Amino acid sequence: MELKVLTKDEIYEEISEDIVKLINEKHNAVLGLATGSSPVGVYQKLIEKYADKKVSFKDVITYNLDEYVGLTKDNDQSYYYFMMNQLFKHVDINLANVHVPDGIETEKCIETYESNMVKDGGIDYQILGIGSNGHIAFNEPGTPLDSHIHIVTLKDSTRKDNARFFASIDEVPTHAITMGLKSILAGKRIVLIATGKNKALAIKRLFEEGETTDLPASVLKEHPNVTIYCDEDAASLLEKVGA
Ligand code: GLP
Repeated sequence: MELKVLTKDEIYEEISEDIVKLINEKHNAVLGLATGSSPVGVYQKLIEKYADKKVSFKDVITYNLDEYVGLTKDNDQSYYYFMMNQLFKHVDINLANVHVPDGIETEKCIETYESNMVKDGGIDYQILGIGSNGHIAFNEPGTPLDSHIHIVTLKDSTRKDNARFFASIDEVPTHAITMGLKSILAGKRIVLIATGKNKALAIKRLFEEGETTDLPASVLKEHPNVTIYCDEDAASLLEKVGA
């Protein structure tokens, strides 16, 4: 795993430039997308670059990592709704090429989501955030390292972390559907964005502990093409700061 400690703006610029370059080389690139606040700056830069005519998403295919169980696409707390607002409605992407796990028809989704991804050629570029407990997508501590798309019961700590997007913690769903750890590792290139002090402990553990189900992000150590992007706050508990 490569580590890069940059400002937030530098992180968003570098990742969005990589994505623009990828799409300009491969117009039907397959992007693996994440929700949460971490990737929003990247999406904003992509929208700007699209407006500046540096890139077109016309043939781009996307697969999101996860969705809350029980929320429909038009629910303003759903990840589908989030992606529409943060990226899709601002660019020329064909919504037929957009995939977000289905929080309602979960069984059907589990049967088809990853096989469709494989049919589309697999993920070229995967963006990840990280939970304060080290989860990636919604793979909570304890998730088997060889997991594929599945339903999870969210930990209280994750529901608490995500409660800021809801009116109260009681409204945060208890379950989610998520791509598994093995499915994420199938991506050809993976970048993880961690910003803020509340990610510092997870980042310290990521670099100092071995691969363990207690820290789902540690599965990334198996992958040959991963960059962990941290701002100074997220890197603040690392012994040595620097790439
Ligand atoms: C949620 C998402 C994750 C995300 C995490 C961190 O749990 N399922 O994909 O990485 O939150 O979110 P944030 O970027 O808002 O800190």
